[in-house]
Amino acid sequence: MSSIKGMLILGFGGHARSVADVALASGIKQLYFLDNNAKPHESFASFPVKSTMDFELPMDWVVFPAAGDNKKRSEQCDWAIEQGLRLGTLISPTATLGIGAQVGEGSFIAHHAHLGPMALVERGCIINTGAVVEHECFVGQFSHVSIGALVAGRSRIGARCFLGAGSTVIDGLRLAEEVTLGAGACAHRNLDLSGTYVGVPARFLGSKD
Ligand SMILES: CC(C)(COP(=O)(O)OP(=O)(O)OC[C@H]1O[C@@H](n2cnc3c(N)ncnc32)[C@H](O)[C@@H]1OP(=O)(O)O)[C@@H](O)C(=O)NCCC(=O)NCCS
Repeated sequence: MSSIKGMLILGFGGHARSVADVALASGIKQLYFLDNNAKPHESFASFPVKSTMDFELPMDWVVFPAAGDNKKRSEQCDWAIEQGLRLGTLISPTATLGIGAQVGEGSFIAHHAHLGPMALVERGCIINTGAVVEHECFVGQFSHVSIGALVAGRSRIGARCFLGAGSTVIDGLRLAEEVTLGAGACAHRNLDLSGTYVGVPARFLGSKD
């Protein structure tokens, strides 16, 4: 990220502020937030929020999707691509990546997160503060592994999953697309149906529809 001078952060919610924090810790000096719902003169840590894209993005700036919600983040990525903007990837300097670990564009690896060797995190994902995605895991696009969640080795998380704070996926499991695992839940077997699971061991609460 050292050649990147500035970042346009899409959104101005809680996750966008965590993104700003990691961007600054990574050496990015200038930030703007872009949020349709921004009120005039709003700012965060003295960085301004704009409600419309009424300026040219300098060549050495990137854009970063920062909605915590998986669907909104995916829409932000689509919008950035449609606008011809360059998407960034953000990895905290306090995160650790094992040998061969890979992170897709528009993904966010927060402070103190760990990716084990050969872990693959696809585009637009959030691996949040203190989360662990162990060796040879796969995390599908636009998924969110929340603060302190643990994904043990060789597990496969489908696209657009949400693993709640402090949840655990034990080793070698497969989660379908669009699985929500509640805070503190433990998946001890494959979760083949999309929908919400809670508790220890995780029980199916229902599908979204
Ligand atoms: C799982 C979750 C998404 C469910 O939300 P919801 O669909 O609004 O569900 P409700 O709050 O209506 O709860 C439905 C039932 O599940 C139970 N439940 C909800 N979350 C639970 C959890 N994390 N663990 C155990 N049980 C839980 C409720 O007690 C309720 O049980 P009941 O029907 O027997 O009364 C939500 O509770 C959750 O855990 N979100 C994670 C938030 C998080 O980790 N944020 C971190 C951001 S970095």
